[in-house]
Amino acid sequence: MREIGSDFEFPFGALFGSHLRSTRAEAGLETAYLASGRDALHWIILSLGLQRGSRVLLPSYLCEEVVAPFLAHGMDVDFYRVTRDLQVDRADLGRRLISETRLVLYIHYFGFPTEFPGKPVASMAPSAVVIEDSSHSFLSRFDAAQGHGDIWFASYRKLLPLPDGAVVCWSGKSVQTFHPFRAHNSLGHVAAVGYRSVGAMLKSLWLLRPGLFPKRVFRQFFFWSRRRLEHYSKPAPMSMVSKRLLKHMDIEGMVSARRRNFSHLLSALDGSEEVRPLYSSLPEGVCPLGFPLLAEDRPRLLQHLIESKVYPPVHWELPGLVPRSEFPDSWHVSDRILTLPVDQRYDEEDMARIAGLVRSFRSQKVLWAAGR
Ligand SMILES: Cc1ncc(COP(=O)(O)O)c(C=O)c1O
Repeated sequence: MREIGSDFEFPFGALFGSHLRSTRAEAGLETAYLASGRDALHWIILSLGLQRGSRVLLPSYLCEEVVAPFLAHGMDVDFYRVTRDLQVDRADLGRRLISETRLVLYIHYFGFPTEFPGKPVASMAPSAVVIEDSSHSFLSRFDAAQGHGDIWFASYRKLLPLPDGAVVCWSGKSVQTFHPFRAHNSLGHVAAVGYRSVGAMLKSLWLLRPGLFPKRVFRQFFFWSRRRLEHYSKPAPMSMVSKRLLKHMDIEGMVSARRRNFSHLLSALDGSEEVRPLYSSLPEGVCPLGFPLLAEDRPRLLQHLIESKVYPPVHWELPGLVPRSEFPDSWHVSDRILTLPVDQRYDEEDMARIAGLVRSFRSQKVLWAAGR
């Protein structure tokens, strides 16, 4: 039974591939390539020259990695509400946007567009900037009207099998106070890229010959890479190896595989009593990160899937900094969500297997409700 999910294998094909393509129409925008989403955020903060104590407004549905750079630079972090279908609560955003706010960030979750009110929020200072986090959605094609960021960034590593990589785009006209910072290489960054590349290569080998060595060997390399990524000094630029791989990847093939797999799960899980898909359709242009769903009995569903070698990530366990009492909707989602893998490594047979596992799962709660 083959494994589904977890870290990507090494994309050997892209070393020799002929798919020269950039990942987004960046025409007319200035661009910088950094090592990760975290590096990109550090770089943006430094390039904007934000002072310690500056007030920044982040969505209440987010991961630790997005908050960390703001805390590291001593920012005064506040959150605005996000609804249960992961849209911005406009009234709450409006209330919290005060003239001291220097930066507002929003996220396009799971590849789907998030509607953002845009700059004309009356109480916002003219010098305040809107950051659009497209780490889940940089392979999606949204209407121009759906992009409201002054600065747009994406971590490439969520959707693409790269050892590192992120991009920041901005227009010189819309952000006057922007002075691109010089990112620097460090031994720690080189080690993070090296460990991840070796881990991914070993995983490719292990998937071909599972008995060749224990799984913990490649998992150890991924672990070392994550540890290094957390600790090296930021911002670091994107590595040469990732730049080369990125240029030659079959991105169109990845997008269509993800859409096909997502559609398959959507119809296979239609009417399920155990889970509720977070998105009930797949709009034109969306390239999904995965298939997020809500399950009342998530711990047991996770256990059920993992026992059958399906490894769905949880996006996200919210950082403790987001108060439960103030943001109940974000915590409602966070307590129930998991993401079924739909990426380019898998086909319809794999999706049928995942859907079968979800459908065969019966939570304690439903059994009790049925009186069994
Ligand atoms: C939406 C979003 N933004 C930013 C990040 C940070 O990216 P990275 O892990 O490359 O630092 C992540 C991932 O952790 C993410 O999911």
